[in-house]
Amino acid sequence: MKRFRIAIFASGSGSNAENIIRYCRDTADCALEVALVVCNRPTAAVIERAQRLDTPVKVLTRDEINNPDVMLPLLAGYDVDGIALAGFLLMIPDFLIERYPQRIINIHPSLLPKYGGKGMYGRHIHEAVVVAGEKETGITIHHVSGECDGGAVIFQTAIPVPAGASAADVEQSIHDLERLHYPRVLASVLTT
Ligand code: GAR
Repeated sequence: MKRFRIAIFASGSGSNAENIIRYCRDTADCALEVALVVCNRPTAAVIERAQRLDTPVKVLTRDEINNPDVMLPLLAGYDVDGIALAGFLLMIPDFLIERYPQRIINIHPSLLPKYGGKGMYGRHIHEAVVVAGEKETGITIHHVSGECDGGAVIFQTAIPVPAGASAADVEQSIHDLERLHYPRVLASVLTT
């Protein structure tokens, strides 16, 4: 059986990238496999994580990522069928959205449309959630469109924000939630 091959695009620590790679390896009969990790920050920890997991990783500049003559042959060379964003902080260029229709998925660490849009990523979101005194927060897994955090929602789940929780506490709970759901939802939505 040919497995559905994804490229993971990531810019930071890479905990989600690692969870997805491990899930694909460790789940019996998983129909998804990670072909490649693409990273736009040469110092990002995700690079070392991917190398440790024997997963090919390419570090590219923003200009290269926005260049169809670089990206399309690269992804074709790895036989990539779709893309999972995992803490990737650049906008996805239109030519990739056209090349992989409904096959580019993102995870966002809030209950979109709350705490979405430009400047809303990672710890900034959890700080805003705590400052606003939100009683709950959560994750959103969605299709990627040309609009920042704007594509159709595939999956959302919420958790309470305990009184007195810090942004770091919320971030930890959100990472746990992401680990629980993102690989499974990706495998399900991309392979059915
Ligand atoms: C994750 O929480 C992910 O949802 C978030 O960045 C973190 C990356 O962590 N993504 C965004 O904020 C996108 N707007 P990781 O590098 O450890 O996977």
